Amino acid sequence: MEDFFTALASSSSFRRCWTGQTRTPFILPAPFVEGLLSLTDIVEGLSAPCRTCEAALTLTDGGDFRCPISLPPIDSLDDLLEVLRFGTVFLNTAGLHWKRAAEICLAASSAFLFPTNVNVYITGPERMTSTDAHTDNHDVIILQTAGAKHWQIFAPPPRNSQSHPLYRGKHGDKLLLHELGNPLLDVVLHAGEVLFVPMGFAHLTSTQGTGHAGVSVHLTLGLSTADYNFCLNGLRTILLEQIGRPSDKAETSSQLWWHLLSPVPVGYLAPSRLRCPSAHAEYLQHLTKLLEATIFPWQEGHDLGELPEVQMGVSKHLEQQVESLTMQAEAYAEVVAGSGNDGPGAFYAAGPSETRSQYRQSMLIHQLAENKRKRDATHAGDLRFVKRIDPRDGAAKTLADVRQYYADSGLSADAADQHWISCCESIYPNDRPPENLMNELVAASERCDALLNFLRRRTPHLQSDIAVERNELAARCDWELRAERKSSERLGKPRERRVWDSVD
Ligand SMILES: [Fe+2]
Repeated sequence: MEDFFTALASSSSFRRCWTGQTRTPFILPAPFVEGLLSLTDIVEGLSAPCRTCEAALTLTDGGDFRCPISLPPIDSLDDLLEVLRFGTVFLNTAGLHWKRAAEICLAASSAFLFPTNVNVYITGPERMTSTDAHTDNHDVIILQTAGAKHWQIFAPPPRNSQSHPLYRGKHGDKLLLHELGNPLLDVVLHAGEVLFVPMGFAHLTSTQGTGHAGVSVHLTLGLSTADYNFCLNGLRTILLEQIGRPSDKAETSSQLWWHLLSPVPVGYLAPSRLRCPSAHAEYLQHLTKLLEATIFPWQEGHDLGELPEVQMGVSKHLEQQVESLTMQAEAYAEVVAGSGNDGPGAFYAAGPSETRSQYRQSMLIHQLAENKRKRDATHAGDLRFVKRIDPRDGAAKTLADVRQYYADSGLSADAADQHWISCCESIYPNDRPPENLMNELVAASERCDALLNFLRRRTPHLQSDIAVERNELAARCDWELRAERKSSERLGKPRERRVWDSVD
């Protein structure tokens, strides 16, 4: 694992695809990822009585709908397989909970010297849409550990004033197929392969027609650059502050906008480099060249890197970045060590009061607060369940969806509220969803049998006909089932009917 990431980080081809002018997705064989995290490992975490990682269910065949509740404890593989007949289960920040995921985060962050995170996605067979078309705010390396998944990856959609390029298809925004053009990559990713998807590149996934009847499990390794300010724009902002210039958005062209989102040079945060007195000068020289087009016009020919205030600002920034990396690494190391000899995919259940890592503790406390927020206030006026039809695209949205959509587009919360009040059409009389719906949702967030009853009753149109036998899973040999890789048709359209808005 370490060798793989080290080789990738030092590969000039990878750096060109990642940070260069020719950013592009690609696929690589990586046999070590096969079987990294089993369904049994996943169930071990999902059955934990006190959930400290975000676990949720997306019902994407119904039109990009995420259950507004957390998943209840799932105690058995059979129950997990039943839930998977309705949608995709995902687990966020898995590196803070599963030993394998923590090992991946550690190996990748020490090779790339960027913050890392692993999310896990589990999708049943023949799911027409696993994730709808969207973009992400970080570069990702997809590690397919079991089964297979069909990916279509497109160049970043043209920028527009209504939506943020890194949050397309999220928070109420719809990324439409006609915005996408032809896919740059159209592949079925098999267990033992990895896929690189650059930040901002649109993608959609499916398990339909992959030649498997098994469950697809993949780990999404995020390399955090823009979202942790480890990008050129973060440095540019600091340099502008240091020379007394106001920060701006420098959005003169799409090319420049994307350039400023590029990661800072790979490897510059290596401890050996930071201990070297000449490193900062060299770093500054390199940066000023990268940022020449956006800063030099204001510098009137002065050498930016020689200004003491600039040197001080960059040093401080480097210190903060190193501290972020160190704190994350401590958290992942604790998970690796804390899982003991319970097996490679072991789940680390230590809660906030037992964890030694400050970073992990703050993340767990945040997650517990989120879980509590979702459980509390489940009365009929709870805004999580109140939806209105947005006339811009005809989709049912909560007020939070609309606010997030406006925030991502750089517009004010007041404008969002005004749009909600004046333009969006109520679904329920007086915006009060039926009480029995509320009760069912509350029960579904607490017990798996209630969740399954809820899904069968409210979303029967999403239920897959394909049951996965646990014995079949145990005996599965991916290489025996591997389908011929070929280009295929665009993934099917989401089903028209909206999830449970039309029921009761
Ligand atoms: Fe994504």
